[in-house]
Amino acid sequence: MDQQQWTAVVEAATRAPSIHNTQPWAFRAGGDRLEVRTDPGRALHTLDPSGRQRTVSCGVAVEFAVVALAAAGRAADVELLPDVADPDLLAAVTVTGDREPGERDRALGDAIAVRHTERAPFLPRAVPAELLDRLQAVAGDFRVWSKAITESEEEVATVFLLSRAEEIEQGEPEYLEELQRWMRTDPTAVDGIPVGAVPADDPSTRPSNWLIRDFVVGSRSGGPVSHDRDPDAPPPEVERPTVVLMGTDGDDREAWLTAGRALGRVLLEATAAGLAASPLTQALDWPATRTQLRSRLSLVGYPQMLLRLGYPSGDRTPSTNRRPVADVLTFG
Ligand SMILES: Cc1cc2nc3c(=O)[nH]c(=O)nc-3n(C[C@H](O)[C@H](O)[C@H](O)COP(=O)(O)O)c2cc1C
Repeated sequence: MDQQQWTAVVEAATRAPSIHNTQPWAFRAGGDRLEVRTDPGRALHTLDPSGRQRTVSCGVAVEFAVVALAAAGRAADVELLPDVADPDLLAAVTVTGDREPGERDRALGDAIAVRHTERAPFLPRAVPAELLDRLQAVAGDFRVWSKAITESEEEVATVFLLSRAEEIEQGEPEYLEELQRWMRTDPTAVDGIPVGAVPADDPSTRPSNWLIRDFVVGSRSGGPVSHDRDPDAPPPEVERPTVVLMGTDGDDREAWLTAGRALGRVLLEATAAGLAASPLTQALDWPATRTQLRSRLSLVGYPQMLLRLGYPSGDRTPSTNRRPVADVLTFG
């Protein structure tokens, strides 16, 4: 593989979603091997002190690299945590040979550029059960379990814990300060979350049974939004997205990376099938709400990702920027 080919692969890998768009990764390519490292300088010490969500984010980048290679006709092997003496080295991706890309490889490769986190309300259209089964099987290939939160008791418990976590976060000045540091008003910023990618209104007033993360809490301008509606207008349709919980049997760095790889695949399969998604990870941010989620849903294993899935309405949010590849890729 030459430098130009690796540049294209890393460009695809960096399209991975990451917590607060921190892009907590760095790559080194040489010969047939790509190393994926985590960049601890981009850690979120309050939201993610264990580095779990940072590692999940890097796991997605690993999988996007594998998908990009497959779409370019290259088979690859992935070794996770290849060097115990070098803990920031999360994965080594080795190209093992050429292979004719199939239709699915191409579709997933194309989905990398299209996928983005979609926080706007979804259309009132259910995700077909067969598609959810397929996404579950895709995650299962990585030995990552996934379950749709459909039973009302589970839904009530999960929604409650999301609200509880959101409440904890909004009362935590260090969390808010960290969030603020990663919000971007400059549309040309190459990392962080652009204000245009998050809804300006208060998520708790949105007609939805699920609560998305509030990114502008504390800095929402213009005072409280008026919710007075025309009394003759029909009530707004309540959004009912499908919410899928993904998890692993273990809860170590290997499990987090594997969860990220599975998440990457699931997101690309979902995108290729016309779905949009947004993570809802507030309840997993805090050990207390994460533990309660385990017990309230009688989970065997550890929740790693809550994903809101649905069909996007017409006006899709533009993609969020990435740092230039030259800033994250070295050769040698
Ligand atoms: C581990 C992880 C957790 C995330 N948690 C949330 C979340 O709770 N709420 C949210 O709206 N987005 C969440 N995101 C999405 C990121 O904010 C998003 O990926 C990033 O801003 C880049 O934007 P993009 O996905 O549109 O490319 C999460 C992403 C990852 C990988």
